[in-house]
Amino acid sequence: MRVVASRAEFFAAREDLDGPVGLVPTMGALHDGHGALIEAARAASGSVVVTIFVNPLQFAPHEDLERYPRTLEADLARCESAGADLVWAPSVADVYPGGPARVRVEPGPLGEILEGAVRPGHFAGVLTVVAKFFGLVRPAVGFFGEKDYQQLTLVRQMAADLDLMVAVAGVPTVREPDGLALSSRNRYLSGDERRRATALSRALFAGRAAAADGEQAVLAAARAVLDAEPGVVRDYLELRAADLGPVRGGAAARLLVAARVGAARLIDNVPVTW
Ligand code: PAF
Repeated sequence: MRVVASRAEFFAAREDLDGPVGLVPTMGALHDGHGALIEAARAASGSVVVTIFVNPLQFAPHEDLERYPRTLEADLARCESAGADLVWAPSVADVYPGGPARVRVEPGPLGEILEGAVRPGHFAGVLTVVAKFFGLVRPAVGFFGEKDYQQLTLVRQMAADLDLMVAVAGVPTVREPDGLALSSRNRYLSGDERRRATALSRALFAGRAAAADGEQAVLAAARAVLDAEPGVVRDYLELRAADLGPVRGGAAARLLVAARVGAARLIDNVPVTW
């Protein structure tokens, strides 16, 4: 596995890769969920590129950009064991050589709901950096986790709407044995908060289990679990169609939750079938 930092080093190393290239864009602080992304890319690609870049453009001024965990040595070990061929860990100046991008990707209406309603500008920042990495790395396939389901859906839509000629693959969420979805932000949780945070996945599983009784039953069952857990402050709990439009009777749906637990803001989602 090669590790590079500058643009010039990356371009030189990119020349040596066999195709098709699979790209796993990350912000580091890698866990088993990222490991699953890299393994999925390994299974489907001639070469696997992992980017490690904490993208300032997707953080609002009050968010956790400065304290976002940075664990490069451990990340590199994980990339190697999961099967990456090339890791690119660029600086901000490598990714934005002219300063913060003036032209940005506008996410459209899907960027204004759920996470977009709570984090204005977030998805413009995500899509802009993903579009840049698609342009720089020129992968055949980009791999994204279903844990960030709205991000995955938006990246898919961007690739299709802008004809980026990249396939976008979604990889199922990896969970702890007690159901908690793996997230780099879980490390902000104290022991007690960590226990309370399982309310998110418990709520989603309870909602999913009520699917036979219809949409309102799903939401009521999930809400009951969340409301019973003190210290879990809900931002949203929503049931949407798989494409994140309004629920359509009988079609596959997605139950999505976001909540604050102590200093951590956590998100999770599950598919719901009727
Ligand atoms: O999901 C993430 O870690 C980030 O949003 C991504 C896709 C790497 C873009 O910075």
